[in-house]
Amino acid sequence: MTEQIERLRKQIVEFKSETLRELEDFRIRILGRKGELTALFDNFKNVSAESKKEIGKLLNEIKTLAQEKLKKEKEYFDNHDAEAGSLISDRTLPATADGIGSRHPISMAKNEILEIFTRLGFTVADGPEVEDDWHVFTALNFPPNHPARDMQDTFFVERNPDILLRTHTSSIQVRVMEKQKPPVRVICPGRVFRNEAISARAHCIFHQVEGLYIDENVSFADMKQTLLYFAREMFGENTQIRLRPSFFPFTEPSAEMDVSCKICGGKGCNICKHTGWLEVLGCGMVDPNVLESCGIDSKKYTGFAFGMGVERLAMLKWQIKDLRLYFENDVRFLEQFETVVV
Ligand code: PHE
Repeated sequence: MTEQIERLRKQIVEFKSETLRELEDFRIRILGRKGELTALFDNFKNVSAESKKEIGKLLNEIKTLAQEKLKKEKEYFDNHDAEAGSLISDRTLPATADGIGSRHPISMAKNEILEIFTRLGFTVADGPEVEDDWHVFTALNFPPNHPARDMQDTFFVERNPDILLRTHTSSIQVRVMEKQKPPVRVICPGRVFRNEAISARAHCIFHQVEGLYIDENVSFADMKQTLLYFAREMFGENTQIRLRPSFFPFTEPSAEMDVSCKICGGKGCNICKHTGWLEVLGCGMVDPNVLESCGIDSKKYTGFAFGMGVERLAMLKWQIKDLRLYFENDVRFLEQFETVVV
């Protein structure tokens, strides 16, 4: 018995726990209901009367030793983080909540644009990012020598002039027109690629949302009213719009739309460069050549189209000064857009 006690004493003295789990195992092994020390105490009744005094003293000593050891080891864990790799750390610590993620501002702006147009009866269409020349340029009335077809502006896949990364999501609209008879009312979100130097105002990858509406008797006035509704939903009910003549190969007439600057209310400020207006999108009546390329009778049907950059709209909405912030994914930037995601 004395031998067993001595062996146990040695074990207790030498014991060192790496993890709280090990410490708990140690407590159970020594002091638990079926533990070694408990077993020795149970055996105490068999000890001869003359040894009882000595053995009893030893047993009590060793019990105190084990208890003190446990206390000391526990204190260590209370003051230090449990070692890496431990199965359980201090179970009495209150839980630390993980940060809740948030939607990326580009997704938020895109979703808002899509919601506004789906309320007007538009449906969302998708298409490939790697496209062919027909869907990006030819069907959209781009002349063969148009600069957008140049290597400088467009990313081609393996120098094959027919396969390229889409430079706008108008290619989705071509695919929809080829498949669907009018009336057509679609909205096409997606990533687009242009060979541009990266700066605060430009990036070689960005996001667009383009829209297309084709039916009998669709007029420029319909387009203007639709875009006015969009601008007021997106930027506030007092927003004014202005259409300036412009040019796109696939629309005639074409226009660029400005919205009144909501920062200064049109009086002029840094954001709108003292003009009171901010450019937000390109639009126009679909060129009859485009309708014919896609197998739609241009004598019977007319339509309008528009396209906008999501990064740019988000910049205006939240006054973000540098486009590169969207792509760096610095949490300090992203968490400013934290909303309840349902
Ligand atoms: N596709 C044009 C662009 O990428 C935008 C646009 C779409 C303009 C539809 C007019 C009509 O800039």
